[in-house]
Amino acid sequence: MYSSKITGLGYYVPENVVTNDDLTQWMETSDEWIQERTGIKERRWIDPKTEDTTAVMGAKAARIAIDRAGLTKDDIDFIIFATLSPDMYFPGGGVQIQDMLDMPTIGALDIRNQCSGFIYSLSVADQFIKTGMYKNILVIGSENHSGGLERSTRGRGVTVIFGDGAGAAVLSRSEEKGKGILSSHLHSEGKHAKELALIGPSTNRWVPEIINDNDPDDVSYFPHMNGQFVFKHAVVRFSEAIVEGLHANGLQKDDIDMLIPHQANLRIAQFIQKKFELSNDKVYNNIMRYGNTTAASIIIALTEAWEEGKIKDNDLVVLAAFGSGFTWGSVVIRW
Ligand code: ACO
Repeated sequence: MYSSKITGLGYYVPENVVTNDDLTQWMETSDEWIQERTGIKERRWIDPKTEDTTAVMGAKAARIAIDRAGLTKDDIDFIIFATLSPDMYFPGGGVQIQDMLDMPTIGALDIRNQCSGFIYSLSVADQFIKTGMYKNILVIGSENHSGGLERSTRGRGVTVIFGDGAGAAVLSRSEEKGKGILSSHLHSEGKHAKELALIGPSTNRWVPEIINDNDPDDVSYFPHMNGQFVFKHAVVRFSEAIVEGLHANGLQKDDIDMLIPHQANLRIAQFIQKKFELSNDKVYNNIMRYGNTTAASIIIALTEAWEEGKIKDNDLVVLAAFGSGFTWGSVVIRW
């Protein structure tokens, strides 16, 4: 068996900054409410006049990650693309990346696990590399939330927390034992699927049906979230996933050098930080600047932490996520 390690990281966020105050032009909300409940100060939303889409942003992040890995597009053996906001209902974003980066006809897999998308993607990539099937896999998380959010007071409970952006990592084969990805653990509990979901359009509630109904109260094509229910489950599942990852490797909470939680809500991250008794320099958060970018959030945060020199050789890095599905999981990395 080989090991797999992250050899390249990159991210891209749209230039357009939307502050909490900016949101008040569409809905009754306030900077104070949003910061107090979520920690978010601003987020990036795609300016529709630009070329950015979920796939375009993913491709921009991917180019940086491939370059930093010291590779070219022709060295990549496989693409894994995670998003809940694809440019098209089908096909998925992976094939768009293959085309946009002018790559050879390699395989492209799409992952639909929302906020846990990057954890799931990294885990799948890890298996392909460890078994020797592939040498270099491009893993991308990208989201265009702003295109599908309800910009009104009715939608404020969801709309204020989401932002757009993309991150990418190159996972490569390594023969160094005890380094790279040590473990990944994945979970789901589908009975809570509708607590955080976008029901229509789908084959259950297809577009003509929605249009024919012409019902002003129909919110099925906007994301729905039972915020407090999700919050309560998130804090429990985040903790479980981290403990599971540590125990599988015979490690303790004191061994963590850097925890990168999915950026769902700063209050969730602070709860986890307190529970694991981690000092401020051992947890990386950037939700203040980007909001919740779902499948992109961990990879953007990981890239920034690495760029800022906060992740060093041999550090124990723990990634953890919880989100719609419900799905959750963790990845433990010896850097
Ligand atoms: N501005 C002002 N007031 C608001 C806003 C807003 N943006 N949103 C809601 N309110 C009001 C509500 O109407 C409600 O008013 P009422 O008491 O008069 O009825 C009050 O504020 C409280 O609303 P709650 O929804 O109970 O607010 P809560 O404290 O739960 O915060 C939040 C909402 C921030 C969404 C929180 O529940 C949360 O972060 N949940 C977890 C999110 C999460 O982890 N998601 C998983 C990842 S996302 C994914 O997988 C796609």
